[in-house]
Amino acid sequence: MITQKTFYITSPIFYPNAVPHMGHAYTTLLCDILARYHRLVGFETYFLTGTDEHTEKVVKAALSAGQEPHAYLEDVVTRFKELYVHLDISYDQFIRTSDQAAHWPGVIEMWKRLTSAGDIYKSTYTGLYCAGCEAFVTEKDLVDGKCPDHGIEPEQLKEENYFFRLSKYTRPIKEKIISGELRIVPGTRKNEILALLNGGLQDVSFSRPKEKMTWGIPVPCDETQTMYIWMDALTNYITALGFGRGEEKMYFWPGMHVLGKDILRFHAAFWPGMLLSAGLPLPKTLLVHGFITSGGKKMSKTLGNVIDPEELLAEYGTDAVRYFLARHISPFEDGDITREGFKDAYNAGLANGLGNLASRIMQLAQTHLTGPVKLEWKPYPKEFTEAMENFEINKAAEYVWSRISALDHKITETAPFKVIKTDTMRGSELIANLVHELAAIDLMLEPILPATSKKIIEAIMANKKPENLFPRKD
Ligand code: MSP
Repeated sequence: MITQKTFYITSPIFYPNAVPHMGHAYTTLLCDILARYHRLVGFETYFLTGTDEHTEKVVKAALSAGQEPHAYLEDVVTRFKELYVHLDISYDQFIRTSDQAAHWPGVIEMWKRLTSAGDIYKSTYTGLYCAGCEAFVTEKDLVDGKCPDHGIEPEQLKEENYFFRLSKYTRPIKEKIISGELRIVPGTRKNEILALLNGGLQDVSFSRPKEKMTWGIPVPCDETQTMYIWMDALTNYITALGFGRGEEKMYFWPGMHVLGKDILRFHAAFWPGMLLSAGLPLPKTLLVHGFITSGGKKMSKTLGNVIDPEELLAEYGTDAVRYFLARHISPFEDGDITREGFKDAYNAGLANGLGNLASRIMQLAQTHLTGPVKLEWKPYPKEFTEAMENFEINKAAEYVWSRISALDHKITETAPFKVIKTDTMRGSELIANLVHELAAIDLMLEPILPATSKKIIEAIMANKKPENLFPRKD
């Protein structure tokens, strides 16, 4: 029997209380490149994304937009889906936590499992809650009494909630992270979470009184309580596979999660704790990326440095944005984007780089070869696969661009346009070699710049110069 290798990758599910921004575009693009790469190298791949809708922020945002939450959500979800079209995101499923048929049964099943394991108990929560993080926080998480991520003062709460016995799982979670069974990339993030685990995990409040959380999944057997949003949200990674409703795609589990550094502890502590309690395997990998800043600062309307992904997409096109994010932002650190930097990178890497190269080579081929070259399939080079397997997308892209400049030099060095004047055979051979090397580069471009890669391979197969792929921008 042939059992196909599977690859399951998820993006975080986004709060739809505002339109998508650069951070959303980045995290989803990382998933897309990895999903496309794994499909190409033969994995049965499943890529999940979606929206995390049971936040009071949605209710507030809808109110201030003068809309009813459902109508408001439709609009924002449409904006996310449009962004995915513009960015060429090849997701397999878009899950919405308000989906009572697809998502709720699995969350209810999860709650029941935690309860049967004896890990849910009722108690009083006294402490702080940051509505921005949707998290219970402590004084030491604050800077000048405010949440450093959201700049707001948390609310003081005293309420009767259901708690999840997360403390019980501190040790097994730690062991699985240390052994690499739950791999956390990069190492700095792994150390960060291990330091947290060394301090011991506290039990967490897993529900809120219904009058405070009007919008959410009711706790089974207690209508007066609504499930805590992170309990509901994290479970999406398996409800999407049919957990609690037939398990049709559960064979993809466990998979990998891509997330930003701000939501590490939910993914590396809460979620593994829940899975252990429910008797399910832990995710294989957490890929934790940094934040995208602009001019070294957090993007903010007040600073006027917000870069809207849709604006860049409209001006430069899909693959230009994919190129910049893939090559010029490290998935392991914070990255910066400015309009000036974007334009320079575009002109250097795409207009003068890839675009010019493809056009020079295919111009020669179209003029001097009698027909298309015969393409041979070659495996990906080790430098490329290693970078991809370590999730170093920027390194993989850097390698591709090193091959692009090497090929550029080769045209100058071998000068087939001169050779062909005196030796047709030798000249044609040199040109055919260039085309072969362009095809090898093109194959590596496929997960990164899918549309451009397709145009180049079509030009090669038709032995024709492609249209101007990346016009220079002044
Ligand atoms: N809804 C939660 C995730 C639940 S997952 C079960 C959430 N949503 S979010 O919309 O606020 O953020 C989604 C993702 O975007 C997070 O991974 C976050 O790190 C990322 N980003 C938000 N701003 C960002 C940047 N400026 N740069 C890069 N990514 C950042 O958290």
